[in-house]
Amino acid sequence: MKKGRTDVVLGVQWGDEGKGRVVDALASESGMVVRYQGGANAGHTVVVEEEKYVFHLLPSGILYPDKVCIIGNGVVMDPITLFEELDGLEARGKKLARLLISHGTHIVMPYHKIIDKLAENARSAETKIGTTGRGIGPCYADKYDRIGIRAEDLVSPEVLKEKLTTVLKLKNDLLTKIYDAAPLDFDEVYSTALKWGERIAPMLSDVFLDIDAAVRSGANVLFEGAQATLLDIDHGTYPFVTSSSPCAGGACTGAGIGPGRIDRVIGVIKAYCTRVGEGPFPTEDSGALGDALRAKGGEYGATTGRPRRCGWEDLVAADYAVKINGIDGLALTKLDVLTGFKEIKVCTSYEVDSELRTHFPTSCGELAKARPIYETLPGWTEDISKCRRFEDLPLAARSYVNFIEERTGVPVLLIGVGVGREDTILRGI
Ligand code: IMP
Repeated sequence: MKKGRTDVVLGVQWGDEGKGRVVDALASESGMVVRYQGGANAGHTVVVEEEKYVFHLLPSGILYPDKVCIIGNGVVMDPITLFEELDGLEARGKKLARLLISHGTHIVMPYHKIIDKLAENARSAETKIGTTGRGIGPCYADKYDRIGIRAEDLVSPEVLKEKLTTVLKLKNDLLTKIYDAAPLDFDEVYSTALKWGERIAPMLSDVFLDIDAAVRSGANVLFEGAQATLLDIDHGTYPFVTSSSPCAGGACTGAGIGPGRIDRVIGVIKAYCTRVGEGPFPTEDSGALGDALRAKGGEYGATTGRPRRCGWEDLVAADYAVKINGIDGLALTKLDVLTGFKEIKVCTSYEVDSELRTHFPTSCGELAKARPIYETLPGWTEDISKCRRFEDLPLAARSYVNFIEERTGVPVLLIGVGVGREDTILRGI
């Protein structure tokens, strides 16, 4: 059997590593790009010929008209965002990849977004998660409670009516009796959902078959993770996480492919760390260094515009991500942002309750007490944004990359030295 290569591209840290730009760079060699989890909480930025695109729901291969892009069953899809993205690209005159949506993709309904914001507001300062307000948690909660509305329901008016009648009663009780908020009107929600159904009907597909056929035909397939390992519902810094499975296993359940058919897992890691929203972040620097990284790296949320918390690279966390996901290779992004720092620090262990730890604590309480222990490497001043081969990088930049490889035990296969598609050093990927 002819077989294409299957790669999962996922985040190593707390999201915003630059997965979109890595997927966009790799998509030219692929036939298909599949989003397998998350929803419009993601903000994947791609820059092509100095034009910037931010994708919340569309897979980052969408700008290649000869590819197929897939929204898998593991995604929670907000049709409003999806249509805004499609219409926006069409208005910019872009020819797009063919888009297919799984019948089983859950739909973010209007009540999910309202409840997400009300629930977040009701949380105390200590328990706030800092969600994106995109209805993600409430939509996944309904999925697992088996009262979710799936893409297939939007094209079956009678099924939709029956499901929505039951679920809207529950949601309106919650809105009015618990949150003291206004109820939603059934006819309005129902007619809106039917209109969504009309538009998505031609895109619905048994996507596991499409993926299987693509792999058998010899096409390479990229599985594009959103958010990241440390935001994973099982393996992240719970409860300060998202509600889906960004880790490698999520690609199997969220798209419909067996683990044995995944060839490589590529972890995207930024040259320093950022986090948006609440939760522990051992290398966070709330002083001048954090401000400098934020300013140089443009570290503001692509979805919410919130300033990101910033700090030095954390290889204890990276080692955890390598192990949890079985990462085969790393894609190191934003190396150019570190240009100009006299020295560069890298966290290689933690101190927790006066004890030295080289492994990432899976307890969020313990992680909150972790004090980073750094090793210091020399910085560089040369502009690296035009480097296209590893050998072109200054010695100190190469040493930094080598240090990451040594400490994680994983090769760095791609280095991002700027925001554009071409600002990339490929090393045997
Ligand atoms: P939710 O996914 O909107 O429920 O948010 C849960 C947590 O995940 C919050 O801390 C968010 O800031 C964070 N989060 C969700 N999506 C992203 C993302 O794409 N990048 C970075 N952080 C995210």
